[in-house]
Amino acid sequence: MANTIYTHYPPELDGQQEAFLVQTVKNWTVEHALTVRPSAAIVPSEFNSGNMLATNAPVTLFPSPFPESCFDQARGLQRVYNELYAAIASDEQWLETVLKELIEVDDFLANLWKIYLDVRREGHAQHLSLGLFRSDYMLHTPDDGPKSLRQVEFNTISSSFGGLSCRVAEMHTHLATYPSPQHPIAYPPHPLFNNSEDSPIKTTGRPPVNTAISTLTAGLAAAHQAYGPSKSTPQLPTCVLFVVQDTERNVFDQLALSSYLHKEHGIPSFRLPTSKITAYTTVAGTPERPLIYTPPSDTSTQYEVTVVYYRAFYAPTDYTDAHAWGARHSLERSAAIKCPSVLLQLAGSKKVQQVLTSKPPGPYHLKSFLPKHTDSTLESLRSTFAPQYSLSSSDPAVPAEGIKLALDPATAANHVLKPQREGGGNNIYRSNIPGFLKSIPESQWKQYILMELIHPPKDAKNFALRSDGAAALGNVISELGIFGTCLWRNTPGSTAPEILHNTEGGYLLRTKSKESDEGGVAAGFSSLDSVILYKD
Ligand SMILES: *[C@@H]1O[C@H](CO)[C@@H](O)[C@H](O)[C@H]1NC(C)=O
Ligand SMILES: *[C@@H]1O[C@H](CO)[C@@H](O)[C@H](O)[C@H]1NC(C)=O
Repeated sequence: MANTIYTHYPPELDGQQEAFLVQTVKNWTVEHALTVRPSAAIVPSEFNSGNMLATNAPVTLFPSPFPESCFDQARGLQRVYNELYAAIASDEQWLETVLKELIEVDDFLANLWKIYLDVRREGHAQHLSLGLFRSDYMLHTPDDGPKSLRQVEFNTISSSFGGLSCRVAEMHTHLATYPSPQHPIAYPPHPLFNNSEDSPIKTTGRPPVNTAISTLTAGLAAAHQAYGPSKSTPQLPTCVLFVVQDTERNVFDQLALSSYLHKEHGIPSFRLPTSKITAYTTVAGTPERPLIYTPPSDTSTQYEVTVVYYRAFYAPTDYTDAHAWGARHSLERSAAIKCPSVLLQLAGSKKVQQVLTSKPPGPYHLKSFLPKHTDSTLESLRSTFAPQYSLSSSDPAVPAEGIKLALDPATAANHVLKPQREGGGNNIYRSNIPGFLKSIPESQWKQYILMELIHPPKDAKNFALRSDGAAALGNVISELGIFGTCLWRNTPGSTAPEILHNTEGGYLLRTKSKESDEGGVAAGFSSLDSVILYKD
């Protein structure tokens, strides 16, 4: 069943239908702020003075089919995953053991770790931490086995597209139901859009409602409340601070959150580019160390920051100089709740993800981080792990197994080599792996993780509307992200986090053309999408 669903989707469009659908999508995206700032490659800066223009975000014209059972499993696991990463970020010794080798060779990790050590030496001014997470999966459909959900990565910093993904689900729903669900004008009839009892495919007929915006902002609001009253004398009004990249194009995704935070929770927030942190924030010299923000547009009013929400500082390229590292350090030592803290950011390393896959007779980390969960819950979590290997010859758990698999062209063909570094663009695939490894010094191998390839449905197709306005039909691969939030308190001397707020809600589907192996919507390779669920 599953295969025929992908073979006969999306519905065919004639020239008139395609033109109408494209026109409708182009108008809807701009009307509803499903938009990004255009890149200079599309609109040269002389035609976009002051970075004033907006254009449609890259989207698919149709939602993509996804099995309901796997979607439900991913949702069901999110709160357990939230708790797992809260527990990892609460265990500095475990993290240090796991990341030690990498900290020795990787400047980026070393700088983050140094900030953590400096703040620990000084004493933490804040024991609450916030995570706005996104767990990313692909549907694994091997020729010789049942389909399953496989985790690609777990994002602990700057989990993006919550704002725009809600709009995509709304747009696809509009297209499938306007002017009436029986006779939508933009979509030709298709069994996947037909949710009647006797339809040959059991389906929801349209995307499930996406609650990412309300979920993520409720997480920020919970942290803001938990911070309590101003710690300044005299007391100051409080706010949330969005720390953003100087040249961010995905700004409307972020504004969706800040607007909702104000509208629904009455909490003001401000955007501060990384290069301006030092100029407009100070950490008060009192033992409480409140973080004070002075808006450049009104220097007579000061605010105390309850939550620092990072939409920047996740990649080495965000730290242009020592200044930037100083700014990160200053925010980390303040009393503001960090989303995320340095430790939580480090917990999201691919190395951690790989180490978690070990199971008895080796160390069973899942059990020690999640002692209160049943074995069947842990097994369900484990079942989402793709087999992963360390390439460190000093790894006692799996000595050299990964190296063997990576160097043999026959086994390398079913793997991807991933560097620790964030940001995409650096993965090495299949037959390129052995040659690549031989071209670099062996001492650098430990900076990579070898992961078994995930095999998504072969026949999946969709139309993409790219930011240059062109629509293209092609074979595609989709990645499902589930959003979740977690707020917890650490007690000095204990590795068990006290969880105060733990939620799941909202999803992202990113669909990319099969020809490109890399993800990264903002990089222009892939489109924002939504799901249409089918039972099988
Ligand atoms: C979309 O916008 C164009 C150009 O402004 C307009 O001419 C057209 O009628 C609109 N079409 C739809 C389907 O909204
Ligand atoms: C949905 O499927 C049923 C059963 O095949 C059919 O009778 C009905 O006309 C379909 N509805 C639409 C809107 O295509």
